[in-house]
Amino acid sequence: CGIVGVTGNDNAVSILLEGLQKLEYRGYDSAGIYVNDLKGNDYLVKEKGRISDLKAAVTPDVHGVAGIGHTRWATHGVVSVANAHPQFSEDHRFYLVHNGVIENFKELKSQYLSDTTFESQTDTEVVVQLLDKFVRTENLSTKDAFTKTLSLLEGSSYGFLLVDSEDPDTLYVAKNKSPLLIGVGDGFNVVCSDAVAMLKETHDFLELHDGEVVTIKPDEILIEDQNGNKVERDTFHLDMDAEETDKGPYPYYMLKEVDEQPNVMRKLASTYTDESGKDTLDPELVDAIKSADRIHIVGAGTSYHAGLVGKKMFEKLTHIPTEVHVASEFAYDDPLLTKNPFFIFLSQSGETADSREVLVNVNARGFKSLTITNVANSTLSREANYTLLLHAGPEISVASTKAYTAQIAVEAILAKAVGMAKEQVTAEDFDVRQQLGLAATGMQAIIDEKETIEDLAKEYFVNATRAFYIGRGIDQTVSLESALKLKEISYVQAEGFASGELKHGTIALIEEGTPVVGIITQAKTAGLTRSNLQETLSRGAQTLTIARNGLKKDDDTIIIPDIDEMITPLLSVVPAQLLAYYTSLNKGLDVDRPRNLAKSVTVE
Ligand code: G6P
Repeated sequence: CGIVGVTGNDNAVSILLEGLQKLEYRGYDSAGIYVNDLKGNDYLVKEKGRISDLKAAVTPDVHGVAGIGHTRWATHGVVSVANAHPQFSEDHRFYLVHNGVIENFKELKSQYLSDTTFESQTDTEVVVQLLDKFVRTENLSTKDAFTKTLSLLEGSSYGFLLVDSEDPDTLYVAKNKSPLLIGVGDGFNVVCSDAVAMLKETHDFLELHDGEVVTIKPDEILIEDQNGNKVERDTFHLDMDAEETDKGPYPYYMLKEVDEQPNVMRKLASTYTDESGKDTLDPELVDAIKSADRIHIVGAGTSYHAGLVGKKMFEKLTHIPTEVHVASEFAYDDPLLTKNPFFIFLSQSGETADSREVLVNVNARGFKSLTITNVANSTLSREANYTLLLHAGPEISVASTKAYTAQIAVEAILAKAVGMAKEQVTAEDFDVRQQLGLAATGMQAIIDEKETIEDLAKEYFVNATRAFYIGRGIDQTVSLESALKLKEISYVQAEGFASGELKHGTIALIEEGTPVVGIITQAKTAGLTRSNLQETLSRGAQTLTIARNGLKKDDDTIIIPDIDEMITPLLSVVPAQLLAYYTSLNKGLDVDRPRNLAKSVTVE
């Protein structure tokens, strides 16, 4: 979900709507705004669907100088206008927007609010009704009622932005495990769950910490800790261009982001290595990993898939055993740990709640950690010991592309650095700077063939109901990511599979015409994967290949340039990204905003 707020600006309505537009990738089931003109007029507009639907519902009379807004990714309650935010109290005095989940909302409702009439099924409404009740029955100030309500939300995750229509230019903000920032404008202030929402208004932001309560007026920001003590904090300047978050000439962000990958490779090579190819990483970080007896990589979704590639590189270049974990599993499964593990968190957004849950646990146990993320100052970056940035520029499309390849590139640089520190021959033989240069030109060559890939998408995938990607070893990890791309945005039921395992069950799903793509980049397993493809062909599948040039055969479908076998995912994934893109596009779907998903999931 996304949150925006503003106080002290005549353009409140357009600031909120433009901010929500920028946050739409965080959720787009429904959206709403509340604004107040401080002269006795206020407006609440909520709509199902996209921000464009909300904009259409905002009539010209809606105006104000303070307000709040929200774009929703449904957790509690179906997608409806009543369940959209802002939620409000029975007497329409308080308006609240919320990201996260209140775990004990049912208990709170039955304990305190048995007489209250509810309009929605949301946990958020329980919070705003409860706060209103404390103001009415206990004569508390808005801030005290807010603080009291927060103290009752056991173990929940939230980012809250509250407005009291009786004192409407004051906004109240609090967060726990969910991101929120305050932006400092010239004579006004804004609130947002992601800085991109407010870059047109300001580049100066204040971060918030869990448990703090903040009171914001047009010319004043008061941060207080849990005990009511005033907290002083400097703003940080975010050096990001508002234009970087625009689509430019591209029909969809995803195509733009696929196209940016060669540049990201070059940027990472020049940021993290010098001209001689030596890394420029923090020696303390390299040392910390070098002395670990095990590396644990933690991530969700596409980031998890980048971790699977990382495992192969870390083991080969550093000889440190490496495990990869799905964040939501690790968080509650407590794997057996060695004495001196090192944790690497992979997260494009740096905000994924599942990953953060693991980091909190890792910190509590005193283990060292690194976050590899695209977002400076994000929660996972702030809370880990070390951070390496992906330097990929904002990734807006829900389906992650350049973050995956950037994560793999950073892992390669890091694994090489640690391997060199350990004097491993495998690391000495791997010229990461040169290989990333090859990756950049190789990616460009594939991207230049996008029309051919579009034709393949039309021929094989647009009318398919299911599809398979298969491979062995590192190609198997790419098959998982390739299938994820396809299912996320084209709704073709796609699976990535270890090609040798297919015959042990899944081959039963192959029917006349089912597309099966073999990823073939490793000399050792190329022949085997080709045989497995044959097995599906004999059962009616339409087979395609993404094969590395050095291993090519006459009937291969897509050839990718040669590169060190360890980092072939940087190239083999690109045709799969484009196949998914063109399948979605030619099915007439909204490529950037697939149904039911959100870019950054800040609930567990
Ligand atoms: C969401 C997105 C995925 C992403 C995953 C992890 O589910 O839709 O594209 O891979 O979160 O996000 P992160 O920001 O932690 O990489």
